[in-house]
Order: sequence, then C-alpha cells, then structure tokens
Amino acid sequence: MKEKVRSGYEAGDYEGEKRSTREVREHEKELLEKMESMAQGEKVLDLGCGTGEPFDRYLVDRGFDITGVDLVSKHISSARENVPEGDFQQGDFFSVQENGFDAVVSFYAIFHLEREKHSDLFEFIYEKLSEDGVMLVTVGGGDMEKHESEFAGSELVWSSYSPEKNKEIITNAGFRIVETYEEKNEEEHHYWVLAEKA
Ligand SMILES: C[S@@+](CC[C@H](N)C(=O)[O-])C[C@H]1O[C@@H](n2cnc3c(N)ncnc32)[C@H](O)[C@@H]1O
Repeated sequence: MKEKVRSGYEAGDYEGEKRSTREVREHEKELLEKMESMAQGEKVLDLGCGTGEPFDRYLVDRGFDITGVDLVSKHISSARENVPEGDFQQGDFFSVQENGFDAVVSFYAIFHLEREKHSDLFEFIYEKLSEDGVMLVTVGGGDMEKHESEFAGSELVWSSYSPEKNKEIITNAGFRIVETYEEKNEEEHHYWVLAEKA
C-alpha cells in the first residue's frame, strides 16, 4: 500500500485540489483546543503532515514546535515553504527516531496504512510521547479492509477499522480515550480520537 500511496500523491495534486484554500474546521478547532489544554509542553509530532496547511500552520501560530514526517517529497517541500518554522522530513510514520513529544497528531493519514499495522502504529505513538503525552488522530470512519479509488488526481488506497475496534486497539496500546468525534458528510467519513497516556 505504501508505494501506491507515495506514487499516487507524487503524481496527483493534493495541495491544489484539497489544501490551498482549506481552513481548520470548527469541530477540528474544538478538538485542537482541547488537545492544547491537555498538552504539558510545545513539542508536537505530526505523522503524515502533508503540505503543513492548514494544521501545522495553525499549531505553529498557537505556539507549538512542529516536527512533521511524510512519505511524499513534494508535500515535504510545500510544508517547508508553508511553515518555515517547522522541522519537516520525508519518511514513513515509523521512521521517526526522536522521543519525548508532548503531543502526537495525525490528520487524515493513518487510513493509508494497512489496518493490520494500526495497533503497531498506536504503540509506536505511545513510545514517542512524554509521560503525560496527548494524541489527536483521524482514522477512517468504518470497517474497510482495503479500498482503492481516485482522489486528488490519482489512484489511492485506504484501510480502516470500525470505531469500536479503533477504541479497542487504542486502549490496548496504553491510552485513555478522552473524546471521539465522527465526521461524516456526503464525501467524507472519518473518526477522530483524542487520547492521553493512561
Ligand atoms: C490526505 S493527506 C493528509 C495530509 C495532512 N495531514 C493534511 O491533513 O493536510 C495524507 C498524507 O499522509 C501521508 N502518508 C500516507 N501514508 C504514510 C506513511 N506510511 N508514512 C508517512 N506519511 C504517509 C501522505 O503522503 C499524505 O501526505
């Protein structure tokens, strides 16, 4: 899945079609503000940071230090331009070496990883966090082993569990779930989870 996702986004125009004018939505702001009130420091890791807009820009403007990682080189180039204050590196979610983040976030990206690897990713996020660390993530909204379709000008692939299964694997990774939110409209279906180290 990883190579299909990487080459798909490199060939497509995610920034032009989806992010050049995208603002942080109201429900996203509410969750980000809750995360901000829980975080004990400024160090935030963004997994699958994309172009840095709108989320890393928003977080840097709120005083956070951002480290971002993304598979796609042109997204990393854009992130460096859009958010020059951040530290952005091309790589896989699991390539991050640094630890001790006050928060780990991932917006609309985990659904590009095979769902069989989601437990490993939540355990990895747990390890990346400081003692009182917070996690805010979006995963797919429903039970979907593997789904391929066109998105932002190229063929991409998605994989996700049901909300119940997500709650189970996130709790099993060591987190206490603080809040969830189901984002559903005609085009999109996502599940948001705000959690802290238990
Ligand atoms: C829909 S975009 C969202 C980007 C950004 N979080 C946002 O909301 O604008 C998904 C991003 O996840 C990245 N991604 C997908 N799988 C990844 C992986 N295994 N490791 C790192 N990045 C990944 C893609 O390259 C893409 O930039």
